[in-house]
Amino acid sequence: MADTIDRVGRLVSALTREEKLRLVRGAPDPEGTATGYVPGVERLGVPEYRLVDGPLGVRAEGERATAFPASLALAATFEPELARRQGAALAREAKARGQDALLAPGVNLVRVPQCGRNFEYFSEDPLLAARFAAGVVEGIQGEDVIATAKHYVANNQERNRTDVNAAVDERTLRERYLPAFRAAVEAGVGSVMTAYNRVNGTHMSDHRYLVRDVLKGEWGFEGYVVSDWYGLESTVGAANAGLDLEMPGVPVTELHGPADGDGPTEAEEDADVASLDGIPDGTRAGFFGEPLADAIDDGAVPADRLDDMVRRILGQLARVGLLDGRRDDGAIDTPEHRDLAERIAVRGTVLLENDGVLPLEDGANVAVIGPNVHEPTLGGGGSSETTPFSAVSPREGMSSRAAGEVTVARGVREIEDVSLFDRLPFVERKSPEDEGVEEHASDPSIEEAVAAAESADVAVVFVRDATTEARDRDDLRLPGEQDALIESVAAAAERTVVVVNSGGPVEVPWREDVEALLEAWYPGQAHGDAIAAVLYGDRDPGGRLPVTFAREEDYPATEETRYPGVDGEATYAEGLFVGYRHFDAAGREPTYPFGHGHSYADFRYGDATATDRATVRVAVENLAERTGREVVQAYVRPPAAPDGIARPVRELAGVATIELPAGATRTVDVELDERAFARYDPERGWVTDAGRYVVEVGRSSRDVRTTVGVDRD
Ligand code: GLC
Repeated sequence: MADTIDRVGRLVSALTREEKLRLVRGAPDPEGTATGYVPGVERLGVPEYRLVDGPLGVRAEGERATAFPASLALAATFEPELARRQGAALAREAKARGQDALLAPGVNLVRVPQCGRNFEYFSEDPLLAARFAAGVVEGIQGEDVIATAKHYVANNQERNRTDVNAAVDERTLRERYLPAFRAAVEAGVGSVMTAYNRVNGTHMSDHRYLVRDVLKGEWGFEGYVVSDWYGLESTVGAANAGLDLEMPGVPVTELHGPADGDGPTEAEEDADVASLDGIPDGTRAGFFGEPLADAIDDGAVPADRLDDMVRRILGQLARVGLLDGRRDDGAIDTPEHRDLAERIAVRGTVLLENDGVLPLEDGANVAVIGPNVHEPTLGGGGSSETTPFSAVSPREGMSSRAAGEVTVARGVREIEDVSLFDRLPFVERKSPEDEGVEEHASDPSIEEAVAAAESADVAVVFVRDATTEARDRDDLRLPGEQDALIESVAAAAERTVVVVNSGGPVEVPWREDVEALLEAWYPGQAHGDAIAAVLYGDRDPGGRLPVTFAREEDYPATEETRYPGVDGEATYAEGLFVGYRHFDAAGREPTYPFGHGHSYADFRYGDATATDRATVRVAVENLAERTGREVVQAYVRPPAAPDGIARPVRELAGVATIELPAGATRTVDVELDERAFARYDPERGWVTDAGRYVVEVGRSSRDVRTTVGVDRD
């Protein structure tokens, strides 16, 4: 470590000012594959290096890669080890594409269910988000690729994302919005990307307190801080706040030529752009070019700040071996990566309701219904989009798994993906070749779907939403005529199963009319095989909800002042009470609570005991005649806090997942995160009130099976 510091120090001393300035600002990638590119300094052996999106797969332009499930699906596994493995696989694929830094993971908290990028994030709970942020970072950095925790901080909506001011009190920032970033730093993340938005009046790229004082000062972050694309507001403000690297560094006109083909018409452009109010201004670039040199010359930015910027960047290149030219070839589209993508999709599938219709009998005659059953739901729109080598649609997955007859009917018009590539100036998709769009012989009809349902033993209806970066959802209803399709099929079919593929909570008004309901998020390339394995019982649905499902009006940020904000300001007036914490405090019943999810097995819990201050132990028995996966969850209920201090009813403190054979009993230890006992006091910092804490152990935040007292003095 010491010799790396010395080596980087010597490099910084040897670099000319002009060379230093070239290292703190992006440039066009001569190979045209990277999302962001920094030219090297050949004279001193500093290599060029490439940054690439994204959390769901490597998006090297014009190249294919494994399309992993969305981050929300990964978090629904409640198994951070899978996060580490996905991070490692992403990193190997990045190296195979000649990329050095991954612009992943996205670790923002799910604050509002409408946010168009919730699919790229992990949870409404800061501990779960932190565990998955750390897991992905460890996986990526362990493969000697630089991970990027994004978007720092409080980027919780896409509506007006480049300007909205998040008005958040300090305690809420500390207890809700910062923990996942802090966990990423503690896990060794090499870079942090600042968000477009403002926090308490200051753009994040200019935010001295949160970037220089908290991230770098208090947490000791030694990597570099990179802007979001066209996300700098100023030269002096950003440099002095602690920004180290401007991306992409050049105006969009210099980065990409005009979109291929004739592009959208003027009218289309206006219409679509108008509905995408989260588009950055692609002309805002070059802040860290001459303007930075001038700012240093006139003393507005200390010269040693430039040295620090360069030192941080070179320090991360050195750390992953890039200064030694060390770069293994990585691996792409391997059987291991494909298996992992399917495993995560299966483990992340949440069985919300099942009256016993599932698992399906092998020989059942099944109607596979839904407007998009002919295509996999890979992910959401925007910079996270990935083009896989191959993918399996629900129709293909179900047809290859079924032993009985399968009839297919779309029922209603397709739900269109919302892809912003043609309209997000800095994100351009040159897909390897035009993705074949299936032509259909006839228009879909609900009558056709009803007929298919009537003639089958069971109807499986696949429905979806379409979410994307740069736009939030207008509401939580399924788009198009999908609700009507479900209601018509449920009225006609003997038994109906509904599978939802969404980027977050959706309203399910017909849930009592169907026999089973699953949430499978955006499952990535393994879509059809993963859902078929779960529906036929080959694999137990392992998922639990990382976000609360409820009616839109029951969530905490329903007033416009809270979301999407008024006059450019979103007031986080709900404070600590995000997600299940709100429903608990309000005594309101969600549709499906945080942590909810059935297994095909059935579990009995023994009495919990505290083996020490930080561990609770419980015996779990599988009462079923088949193997099942259980996610044991531990929540902490604090004692009454000092007057005037609000505290949530319960807070997630730990989870443990276990695979239990039929009839087996296992003892499970759940490690409790100490911060679940603490609260943040703006004057005193983290405080743990003395008293008796009740640890609730169970299957979800609302399904407590046993409790045990734990004292804090
Ligand atoms: C986008 C996204 C960010 C992405 C970057 C590069 O604006 O906010 O997540 O990594 O630009 O595509």
